[in-house]
Amino acid sequence: MNGPVFNTEIGCDLPRAIELLKAGNLVGIPTETVYGLAGNGLSADSIFKIFEAKNRPFFDPLILHIGNMEMLYELVSDVPDSCKKLIEKFWPGPLTVILPKKEIVPDLITSGSDFVAVRMPKHQLTLKLLNSLTFPLAAPSANPFKYVSPTSALHVYQQLNGKIPYILDGGDCKIGIESTIVSFMGDEIKIQRLGGITLEEIMQEIPEAILANQPEDHPVAPGQLKHHYAPGCKLIPVDKIDSWDFELIDSEKIGVILFEPTSKSELESDLKTIGISGNRIKWYVLTESGNSAEAAQNLFSTLRKLDNELLKWAIFQWAPEKELGLAINDRLTKAQYLPK
Ligand code: TXA
Ligand code: MG
Repeated sequence: MNGPVFNTEIGCDLPRAIELLKAGNLVGIPTETVYGLAGNGLSADSIFKIFEAKNRPFFDPLILHIGNMEMLYELVSDVPDSCKKLIEKFWPGPLTVILPKKEIVPDLITSGSDFVAVRMPKHQLTLKLLNSLTFPLAAPSANPFKYVSPTSALHVYQQLNGKIPYILDGGDCKIGIESTIVSFMGDEIKIQRLGGITLEEIMQEIPEAILANQPEDHPVAPGQLKHHYAPGCKLIPVDKIDSWDFELIDSEKIGVILFEPTSKSELESDLKTIGISGNRIKWYVLTESGNSAEAAQNLFSTLRKLDNELLKWAIFQWAPEKELGLAINDRLTKAQYLPK
């Protein structure tokens, strides 16, 4: 499908973003997690444009972004006490809650479900924007379906140039991976997606919350598809290089993503045993200090670099299985290359 062709601009002009959104257009918006592709969340026409620009299937529902609590109660019919507890602690912030929707929420937003996902982002410019509008903003991550999420205005531009009129530039995203999603359906409290709020932080507030099974081909949260965040470069975890070593050997240059620099020499000698060494390796480090929040912030921009540098293969190390390392490993699992 060919939408209208725009001369996409990047800037900090809030009144312009407001005007465009009110007129039913889409705008790239900054949040603390990743950039969103925003449109009027109560207008079927704007929502349709989002799916079209992203090339996203309609079975994958969208999150509504709000700037104040009054708006939450306009959109949902019930907020259980356990949900209130999370909201009080983590909003504005990288937490999305799934609650029973009111009629005002279009079915297109929820892909026909009776439950809607809502979040209040922690970004001054976007909070100002949201509080200047009378409607919530539907905003999926501003990447084409199944590609890596954008963490800067330039990333959005590189992929949606020509498809939207404006990108509001709010700088680099501080968290760097998407929000944690928690659903409140009946008595069941489920963590549907790990993200910027850690599992430990959620469990501390709500010990009875359970982590949803990791996604299958037909997931509970429909967007939680098995392969999702993949760059064009084929990514393989370090523990699987044996299965691929003949292809790696054939490849000219190989990317290696280290979680932290201290593991470099060990990996260097492992790679040498399969014939990969010296300037055939392009090294990337997610965190200089072994800090998982820093690693999360750098993850998606590092995956983009592999493509920008036209690498065909890259090996990555898993993050330690705690704090934001869990969300990083979730994204890496979905980004890894698997044979058809
Ligand atoms: O950090 C974030 O959450 C970013 C920023 C822009 O806010 N947004 C984001 O949106 O990651 P998106 O569309 O890329 O991912 C939203 C996820 C999808 O997996 C979708 O299936 C799930 O949330 N989701 C949305 N509404 C849902 C609903 N009503 N029921 C179940 N899952 C839902
Ligand atoms: Mg996304």
